[in-house]
Amino acid sequence: MSKKDIGIGLLGLGVVAGQVARVLTDKADELAEKVGCPLVLRKIKILPQDLARPQAKKMPAQLFTTDDDEFFREPGIDIIIEAIGGERPAFDYLKRAIAGGKHVVTSNKEVIAKHGFELLALARKNNVGLQYEASVGAGFPLIAPFKHDLIANTVTGIFAIINGTTNYILTMMAKEGMDFAAALKQAQKLGYAEGNPENDINGIDSMYKLAILASLGFQTQVRPQDVYTEGISRLSPRDFRYAREFGFTIKLLAIGKLQDNSVEARVHPVFIPEDSILAKVEGVYNAVQVEGDLMGKVMFMGQGAGALATSSSVIADVVSSARKIVLGIGSLSTWKAISGKTIKPMDDIETQYYIRLAAKDRPGVLAQIATVFGNNKISISSAIQPESDEQTKTAEIVIMTHPAKEKAMQKALRELEKLEVVKEISNFIRVEDIEGG
Ligand code: HSE
Repeated sequence: MSKKDIGIGLLGLGVVAGQVARVLTDKADELAEKVGCPLVLRKIKILPQDLARPQAKKMPAQLFTTDDDEFFREPGIDIIIEAIGGERPAFDYLKRAIAGGKHVVTSNKEVIAKHGFELLALARKNNVGLQYEASVGAGFPLIAPFKHDLIANTVTGIFAIINGTTNYILTMMAKEGMDFAAALKQAQKLGYAEGNPENDINGIDSMYKLAILASLGFQTQVRPQDVYTEGISRLSPRDFRYAREFGFTIKLLAIGKLQDNSVEARVHPVFIPEDSILAKVEGVYNAVQVEGDLMGKVMFMGQGAGALATSSSVIADVVSSARKIVLGIGSLSTWKAISGKTIKPMDDIETQYYIRLAAKDRPGVLAQIATVFGNNKISISSAIQPESDEQTKTAEIVIMTHPAKEKAMQKALRELEKLEVVKEISNFIRVEDIEGG
């Protein structure tokens, strides 16, 4: 099939979509060379307020429409790029585009995490491609390697820092001794955190991204609700101090594991050894360590946010879709769910734990606490009492355990809370003993 050009439709004109439009214009000649024919931006679906954006003022007015029907009926569009984010109306737009026979490219982690399997099935039915490289690890290759370069492996582990905002906050808490609120404020001031950073801080952003990576890696459907998720707001500078004393640092890690056809998928703060490679990933950077039976450990690292980085992956997907159109190849969309795998309940995971608690400072207290752990078959690896307050007769006690089942630990924590000598469980954090690098 020989094509004069490939028509592009763009949904949205926010920071990412605006940057994508800029690259399509500024690099038009280069891209045409790479594809084999020009990529022509034919229509942009905007909201009325987008017309006030500087990017809109630089573009011909006839490119824009605020009308869905006008956009989807525009003749000569082969590829539709969705860069509006959020579940709706993005999901409906993607379905409509695919049903209309368009190849689609999206950076939308929420839609792919929640509806990826349905959209890929629809894309296969309509013989078009659905590409989503920018949905995880915006600026560095991740989805494509999972689909191609790692395909010969049985992926057994995914350990990922996939949220830049929280990694920046945790870096400031670890390096500068800031508390959570101050570090968040600084992240917002520097424009790293969004105006409403809830989804980042609560781990929801990482949850969507892990659902995508785990589904691809373990070749099974891992839905967002299958991912156990905790955020970072309960961490305090004290936890970072004790982590350092034990030779660890604290990261918000997205963890996926496959063992005996059982998939573990969780996002929560963890102690990781301070000499591990992931411990050295600082600031807004993202990194993903993947383990497979043939390749061993492989690490991907780069910028996980920002318009420039995101546009790099979106345009790569557009070019690969365009090449398929030029070559007359339809859908190559695969996201095979190989049956027989189950999601491991959180109760069944096994890990080490750090517990920080405030207790009365008097004889026999440590023995009572140790008895609760012992009764629940949890073995303590070390216990320290670094501080005590003479006036209130309160001691801070920090305990590290050997590997134990989550169910047993939760039961022990409930029992500890009931002890008359325990004033509060200040924090408890799981430990992930990933190897040093
Ligand atoms: N809010 C995300 C982050 C970027 O902080 O990493 C977009 O996925």
